[in-house]
Amino acid sequence: MKASNYILPTAKEDPADAVVASHKLMIRAGLVRKSSAGLYNYLPMGLRVLRKIEKIIREEMDASGALEFELPILTPAELWIESGRWELMGKEMFRQKDRHDAEYSLGPTHEESFTSLLKPILKSYKDLPVNVYQIRAKFRDEIRPRFGVIRSREFTMKDAYSFHPDDASLNLTYELMRKVYRKIFSRCGLNTIPVQADSGSMGGSGSEEFMVISPIGEETLALCEKCGYSGNVEKTQVIFKNSGQQEKLSPYEKISTPGKKTINEVAEFTGTIPENTIKSVMYKSDNKENIIVFIRGDREVNEVKLKNFLKSLDLRTLSNEECNSIGCVPGFTGPTIPEKKEYKIIFDTSINPQTAYVTGANETDFHLKFFVPGRDMSFKPETIDLSLASKNDPCPNCSSPLDTQKGIEVGHIFKLGDKYTKAFDFKVSDKNGKQLIPIMGTYGIGVNRTMATIIEQSNDSKGIVWPISVSPFEVSLVSITKGVEELSRIEKIYQYLVQNGIDVFWDDRDLGPGFKFKDSEIVGFPVRLTLGKNFFQDSTFSILNRKSGEEKTSVFLSNEKLLEEINILRKELFFSLEKNN
Ligand SMILES: Nc1ncnc2c1ncn2[C@@H]1O[C@H](COP(=O)(O)OP(=O)(O)OP(=O)(O)O)[C@@H](O)[C@H]1O
Ligand SMILES: [Mg+2]
Ligand SMILES: [Zn+2]
Repeated sequence: MKASNYILPTAKEDPADAVVASHKLMIRAGLVRKSSAGLYNYLPMGLRVLRKIEKIIREEMDASGALEFELPILTPAELWIESGRWELMGKEMFRQKDRHDAEYSLGPTHEESFTSLLKPILKSYKDLPVNVYQIRAKFRDEIRPRFGVIRSREFTMKDAYSFHPDDASLNLTYELMRKVYRKIFSRCGLNTIPVQADSGSMGGSGSEEFMVISPIGEETLALCEKCGYSGNVEKTQVIFKNSGQQEKLSPYEKISTPGKKTINEVAEFTGTIPENTIKSVMYKSDNKENIIVFIRGDREVNEVKLKNFLKSLDLRTLSNEECNSIGCVPGFTGPTIPEKKEYKIIFDTSINPQTAYVTGANETDFHLKFFVPGRDMSFKPETIDLSLASKNDPCPNCSSPLDTQKGIEVGHIFKLGDKYTKAFDFKVSDKNGKQLIPIMGTYGIGVNRTMATIIEQSNDSKGIVWPISVSPFEVSLVSITKGVEELSRIEKIYQYLVQNGIDVFWDDRDLGPGFKFKDSEIVGFPVRLTLGKNFFQDSTFSILNRKSGEEKTSVFLSNEKLLEEINILRKELFFSLEKNN
């Protein structure tokens, strides 16, 4: 491809609305342009990256035996009503009416579509297992689209769905997909960590997210160096070693704490530390149940664990008015609150029944001191693990202190169980001619998010540094000459390279070398071949390794030798991707 025929609007300035490197660089390198909130146009250079990632995904999915499909993006409401998700998806789902007033959704995911498509096709256990997939646009009306294509409202997803007669079969495909994902991401030059993830309150028995460690990640991962445990903090079990009875604990007393509402204020005022306080957090579940959670003052409630426990899909904190209306005193609610039908009381395991705490007295401007839950409560509260795991918590496997890191989720694999097959009354006959409900797995990869995440992981002050496997072109050819004859010599070399399978972008424009080098660097081609003044004066050319910055100058002997030099570096770069595998 020649730059003179191309559209490559590179820019010096960062776009005003971009806060992360990948977003800035995708715009500045002329890969994408914003259309409107959370919607992006792909320009030719950006599209090539997307297509290369898709190609890697397709090759690996096909090699694993998965079958590619293409289903409509517009999905009829009936499908979603049948699964119960027409309501559940809420505002995140884009909805559309046709001329007859029939309702549709722009598919945010395709469990319903694939299940209803395959139900009349798969009839016997002999037809199972199958793994089907597509690479297709998805639409989600995200509350906060951000970070460019990392969280957008239209994006390309590889979504796969597998159908099985039993758990053993599902487990095999799940494990296979796990391997396939690692291969896909490492071929894309991405280091991913599969982490244990929440499988939700609605069935599902196992789930892992493929995370890329990054300070801009929206997820927090708990990692154990000792045993290799990795989990989303939402999923990670927190185990507290509660000590036994302390000696000579004074009876609790009520103390005046005027205006001290936050844990830090209360702890400071009473001369203790947050760890020795109990705080309350009040929630409403989706079935309108009120819940009062008591948790140690230094801990945060893990709302995912709470949702799962309550089998609630939604959860929100109560307003002060709502707290008052059920007889709680906001900021001063404590464990002496009586049991009532208006609310459910839950304790987190961080609270040691035998320890003396400072906690709310259920009276404005008063707290209790020396409150020992195991001694002073009039009832034994339900106690479960509701803490969000944090740095230095003991690993749930081996008790070593956990580390935490931010991560970007690029893929997700999930054992779904029979949720959708059951909803669609999907049955196949088993060995004995009886009917069985197949179980499913689902496996997603965000293609655009993967592209942006690669940039997050691989860039420098000059621009993007593409892993060779996904670079829009593998080689950039920068020529520096205006002479007609000289240009035609370079044209011949360019044609030779193209004919010999080199994916090359020739900057043949009538521009200065500085400008061309800058463009080549910001777009991030891994290999740069320069045919400049020296080429015509003393027959030398240079090949730059964008990543290492090493530039090698050689004497031009023949097209074959030049090709050989390029291929040496190309192979080295591909090899280094495999090595990371
Ligand atoms: N709004 C989005 N923009 C770009 N990619 C997305 C978006 N939402 C999800 N993805 C990608 O699709 C993959 C599969 O979708 P899935 O439904 O598992 O995501 P999700 O759990 O909603 O992700 P998130 O927690 O980031 O919202 C994700 O792993 C991610 O790579
Ligand atoms: Mg989401
Ligand atoms: Zn461990």
